[in-house]
Amino acid sequence: MYEHELAFALGMAERAAGLAMAVFRGDVRVSVKADETPVTQADTEIEAMIRAQLAAAFPDDAVLGEEQGGDPDVEGRIWVVDPIDGTANFARGIPVWATLIALQVGGEPVLGVVSAPALGERYQAVRGGGAWCNGGPIAVSEIADPAASQLLYPGIGPWLREPRNERVLGVLATAKRTRGFGDFWGHMLVARGSAEAMLEPELALWDFAALVPIVEEAGGRVTTLEGAPPRHGGSVLTSNGVLHDDLVARLRD
Ligand code: IPD
Ligand code: CA
Ligand code: CA
Repeated sequence: MYEHELAFALGMAERAAGLAMAVFRGDVRVSVKADETPVTQADTEIEAMIRAQLAAAFPDDAVLGEEQGGDPDVEGRIWVVDPIDGTANFARGIPVWATLIALQVGGEPVLGVVSAPALGERYQAVRGGGAWCNGGPIAVSEIADPAASQLLYPGIGPWLREPRNERVLGVLATAKRTRGFGDFWGHMLVARGSAEAMLEPELALWDFAALVPIVEEAGGRVTTLEGAPPRHGGSVLTSNGVLHDDLVARLRD
């Protein structure tokens, strides 16, 4: 299933990598959007390229992208694109950024491609076909003891500003080790078994749609911090699966 779409998404990711790497750590032009977040010429060019490719190959499919918008509630086939996830890293020469491409059908992400060329990592999954990184299969860890777990979070700032910060900090305090590895990367580290869970306070659909099939096909789980299905603008908890219910219970208490 979706072999043609996967091949097409990988081709678009390759082109996106060419556009982004041509300016990374070089002539990156940064401007600030109305919501005060940064955007570069690479974000704009990559989304325009992907939209043009999709319009030619799949003219009946809807598209949602961070830079040009769209309707996140489309029930049919919709491609969900974040041209560069981790723009703030990209703009500062930090290699943790990726092009995220997902296909959703009936509200479910069925295909995900996460292309991080500056890290040399490309993750992909199609429902039922396993999760892959650079051509090899990946799987979540089997660590079931919270005290042995490595937990990730994007940064400490949002938690300090939020009412639930004490519960989140309490959960992080029980882990063996914590690291602030943000954006797509924390979730991919969970998918490949390098960490047990990643906690996010708030993500848009384009931030997480491509991550869901990869984490789930690797054997993990993705919900909100409250254990509900992830939704546009909500929190996101990805885990190795075995620790998921325990984490949700302790984040609720
Ligand atoms: C950001 C990343 C980050 C999340 C922010 C997003 P961007 O995306 O996904 O993990 O915490 O809320 O804005 O702007 O770099 O594509
Ligand atoms: Ca993003
Ligand atoms: Ca982005």
